[in-house]
Amino acid sequence: MPDLFSPYTLKGVTLRNRVAMSPMTMYRSTDGRMGDFHVMLMGSRAAGGFGLVFPEQLAITPDGRTGTGCAGIYDDAQLEGLSRVAAIVKDMGAVPAAQLGHTGRKGSEKKPWHGKTQLPPDHPDGWQVRGPSAIPYGGRYTCPVHALTVDEIKYIHRAYARAAQRALEAGFEWLEMHFAHGYLGASFFSPLANQRTDEYGGSLENRLRFHREALDAVRAVWPERLPLTMRLGCDDFHEEGVRFDDSVWAVGQLKGHGLDLADLSLGMNTDDTKGVPFNEVAFMVERGSRVRREVGIPVGVSWNLGLPAVADRVVREGLVDMVLLGRPALSNPHWPFWAARELAHPDPLSLLPEDWSWWLRNRPGPEGSLGWPSAAAGARGD
Ligand SMILES: Cc1cc2nc3c(=O)[nH]c(=O)nc-3n(C[C@H](O)[C@H](O)[C@H](O)COP(=O)(O)O)c2cc1C
Repeated sequence: MPDLFSPYTLKGVTLRNRVAMSPMTMYRSTDGRMGDFHVMLMGSRAAGGFGLVFPEQLAITPDGRTGTGCAGIYDDAQLEGLSRVAAIVKDMGAVPAAQLGHTGRKGSEKKPWHGKTQLPPDHPDGWQVRGPSAIPYGGRYTCPVHALTVDEIKYIHRAYARAAQRALEAGFEWLEMHFAHGYLGASFFSPLANQRTDEYGGSLENRLRFHREALDAVRAVWPERLPLTMRLGCDDFHEEGVRFDDSVWAVGQLKGHGLDLADLSLGMNTDDTKGVPFNEVAFMVERGSRVRREVGIPVGVSWNLGLPAVADRVVREGLVDMVLLGRPALSNPHWPFWAARELAHPDPLSLLPEDWSWWLRNRPGPEGSLGWPSAAAGARGD
């Protein structure tokens, strides 16, 4: 049975281990472009031993961003930054992944630390937000929502395909579609946000049409040899919202449309939830393992998996194929290296770039003096 540090092959891509840096929006872009900050952030995590590294969600249209500081993949001018990020990740031995997104009715936001309110279209940093129906999210998202026409939906699907081509051109080797967290895809799936009466609303089958068509559009341009995954909002934790059973069915349908791995996460289509276990360790794993078993598709999950023994166990027990780390990847650039030491991996230094590990193997210092996180530091691998 593989463990957290076993290589993982999906389609024609092999990751050196099962630990991914989960996408995290950073609000550090101008005109959707990534720059030195993103090269630093993703490069350091790749150097720290992550097998797969995602930069933040990349908006497929300007109004698909969370706010004006968010990164995009809707303009050729963004290719230079994207290519630099993909190149440094590869150079450090990890696989670069891109997450395509559209924030839908949750876009046009201020930076969280500036108050996290939604900006109206007449604000210089705001725009008209769009969704399946003219239903604002509520809470802090107060702006009226434009209900997309069928022509506009088709335009968005073409934008997904164009974004996928740019991701390929920039050198990314793994592509994820972000259909969770209350963003556009998630809101099409949820009856809380989607009350359309046309072929994109109503029945479960219709509420999944947006996903199927987006997946088809992307699969048509994204090479078969490269993984195509989806982060699905699999549970709204609300009686009238997305039910997990519906999501198990949905993943089966999407598998038939070329989905290679399901990355399960929260629906987040409302703040009015009951029982989201935010403080429970590994709370998405049980759902992931059910999808993996019943649908027969590889699965990755995030949420509270930063304890090395837990992350390792969920892979060893065959519950999920890989783990994605968000906050732990922000707080510890070397999480995989640190976890390898904690788990008594036979050669933790092998997780670092060859040149760094050569120095650390060949220039051992006094016990505890090299910045190792534990007392056993420096002892192995010499
Ligand atoms: C600062 C921040 C930004 C995030 N941005 C994104 C994003 O762009 N796309 C996404 O799918 N999830 C996003 N997330 C969610 C994370 O990818 C991850 O799923 C979540 O934090 C749970 O994993 P964790 O418990 O390891 O932090 C974000 C999380 C944080 C903390």
